[in-house]
Amino acid sequence: TTLGASAAARDSRVFGTAVAASKLSDTAYTTILNREFNAVTPENEMKIDATEPQRGQFSYGNADRIVAHARGQGMRVRGHTLAWHSQQPGWMQSLSGSTLRSAMLNHVTQVATHFKGQVAWWDVVNEAFADGSSGARRDSNLQRTGNDWIEAAFTAARAADPSAKLCYNDYNTDNWSAAKTQAVYRMVQDFKNRGVPIDCVGFQAHFTGGSSYPSNFRTTLSSFAALGVDVHITELDITNAPAAAYTSVTNDCLAVPRCRAITVWGIRDSDSWRSGESPLLFTSSGGKKAAYTAVLTAL
Ligand code: XIL
Repeated sequence: TTLGASAAARDSRVFGTAVAASKLSDTAYTTILNREFNAVTPENEMKIDATEPQRGQFSYGNADRIVAHARGQGMRVRGHTLAWHSQQPGWMQSLSGSTLRSAMLNHVTQVATHFKGQVAWWDVVNEAFADGSSGARRDSNLQRTGNDWIEAAFTAARAADPSAKLCYNDYNTDNWSAAKTQAVYRMVQDFKNRGVPIDCVGFQAHFTGGSSYPSNFRTTLSSFAALGVDVHITELDITNAPAAAYTSVTNDCLAVPRCRAITVWGIRDSDSWRSGESPLLFTSSGGKKAAYTAVLTAL
């Protein structure tokens, strides 16, 4: 069996991977992709600098290639990401205030409209909270347009593609006791209370080793789920890929009925943004690692 087929057999979950358009011509890469995964997240191709490199001029070629590949293989697509402080094109970095707010909302509307019906889940907003003990929003040009920028982005995304599931995505939100986790939790609770359209919360899960994996992660997932949102593990990688930590993450997702998706952030170690840390499920030559077997056994 495979990761995707096993996840599908666990109450129709998905097991996805980040994909780079430039690698779709690598048959060693697509052989594993097509065999093992039933969802994809474009690693960079749907980010703001890729889709709107010049203000008002949209560029979808690489993202469309990934979407077409996914559709051809019956895989679902997680769109990543419509609004983020990072990987902004130069023109957006230089805007502020109401001009930036309008440009951001136009970007959300245009991109969500282009992919309407093709993206199952959108990471509408990525990484909007600060690290550390403050529980505050991250300072950014988007945040300085007003605290309501996140809900404005979600409302625009819902209007553009009413059938896409809309997610908030972040990192260092795995430990239930962390101030950042609690702050995101309170935002989602507030959105649900006020009817701001949010359907899911993504936990990136870039762990730096077995010991950085919090034993209360399952509490975090179930607590968010109890707010009435689905939860996804969206960018999983773990330094040196310890099999035990991969098993724990998988079991934590399976223990929470609303945990619908696990996505690893790349296929082979050589594909990883942290390739020096060998954090993924396949070796650079495409072999199955112990972590792969651990995940498959847990699924
Ligand atoms: C990373 C990509 O993997 C890299 O190729 C790129 O150079 C930088 O971004 N959090 C996110 C992802 O939400 O978009 C980031 O992806 C990793 C951290």
